[in-house]
Amino acid sequence: MPYSFDQTPNRRLSSAKWTLVPKDVLPMWVADMDFSAPPSILKALQKFAEHGDLGYQLPSTKLYEMVAARLNKLYGWKVSPEMILTVPGVNSGYNIAARTFCTSKKGYLIQPPVYNEFHETRRKTGVPQVEAPLAKKIYGNRLEFEVDFDAFQRAAKQVNLFLLCNPHNPVGRIYSPAELSRMAEICLRNNVLIVSDEIHSELLLDNNKFHPIASLSREIEEQTITLVSASKAFNVPGLFCAFAIIQNQKLREQYAETVLKMGIHVSSAGLVASQSAYSGSCDGWLRALRKYLTGNRDFVIEYVTKRWPQVRITIPQATYLAWLDFTQLDLEPSPYKFFFEKAKVALVDGAIYGENGKGHVRLNFGTSRRILKQGLDRMNRALKSH
Ligand SMILES: Cc1ncc(COP(=O)(O)O)c(C=O)c1O
Repeated sequence: MPYSFDQTPNRRLSSAKWTLVPKDVLPMWVADMDFSAPPSILKALQKFAEHGDLGYQLPSTKLYEMVAARLNKLYGWKVSPEMILTVPGVNSGYNIAARTFCTSKKGYLIQPPVYNEFHETRRKTGVPQVEAPLAKKIYGNRLEFEVDFDAFQRAAKQVNLFLLCNPHNPVGRIYSPAELSRMAEICLRNNVLIVSDEIHSELLLDNNKFHPIASLSREIEEQTITLVSASKAFNVPGLFCAFAIIQNQKLREQYAETVLKMGIHVSSAGLVASQSAYSGSCDGWLRALRKYLTGNRDFVIEYVTKRWPQVRITIPQATYLAWLDFTQLDLEPSPYKFFFEKAKVALVDGAIYGENGKGHVRLNFGTSRRILKQGLDRMNRALKSH
């Protein structure tokens, strides 16, 4: 069945991404896509609503089996359904982990520039944050980011928990099995729990492959909490349903205890959508989406490379997020503010991803090619008149 991503619904009516900015501003910020959710999910939700029972639902064994089957199918990772817990979101998932396993002395490790909410965990849970910034590599106008293993090793000694973002928001990287093993080895040696945010793992561009860190060895699996969700790849983030995969029974029980104490539940509609996504019924849609997003990524890179020689950009391997470095231009007071005011385009200010994100912006290309071009043209005009 052919899917078209050139048409997008009117999101000015209700979405946070479109309603939180003035009408003349084009939003390319919040990480959701402007497309409708896959037809199979919409159908499942229609059936759910027509049945009329919107009461409390519990996650079914069938759903857990589907999640496990999908992980096996995608990565050959054998997870038993009993290892899986539900949480409302990936954000709550790692905050629960930080509350459970960190202390006021030993907190969590992150690798900036990284997803702004990772930085918020410090405030939300009151535990300290330690940073091992990624190393920025510049090749002409291409940007790449690598793990700084010396910094990582030093930081690992000071924490109880490593919060990994893979695929990485905002730099779009998928870590290789070799890099993951090396980070995991350091964590195992220092008795650091790995919490792996893999929310973007099914949003692969080109033919890139993804490897969950916990799937690499039995030892790593024993010391890892993996967080996944249908929300990003299938564009249902407003339905709030995610999964924590915890092989280690003791860790799982401790984690579940915190969930219980906080009175946390997932939404029934989220369970319905997840079941539809993990059943494989949307896989054709997902393949078409990845192709479209790969085209959008190439469009952004070509646009930037041809017109803005002083701007550097990543080549994302996954996600619909591009990371642009404007540090060579004098865009005062910041590239984010410059584009918001002069181009009427809302990007995300790189500074919220960490100190080394200053002078950068994150651009969400999860939209139609037409809207994407409109946004880039607005930015281009603003740069030209600068
Ligand atoms: C890396 C990452 N983790 C978590 C989230 C949010 O997840 P949730 O809505 O399930 O809490 C996002 C959303 O942008 C994200 O990019």
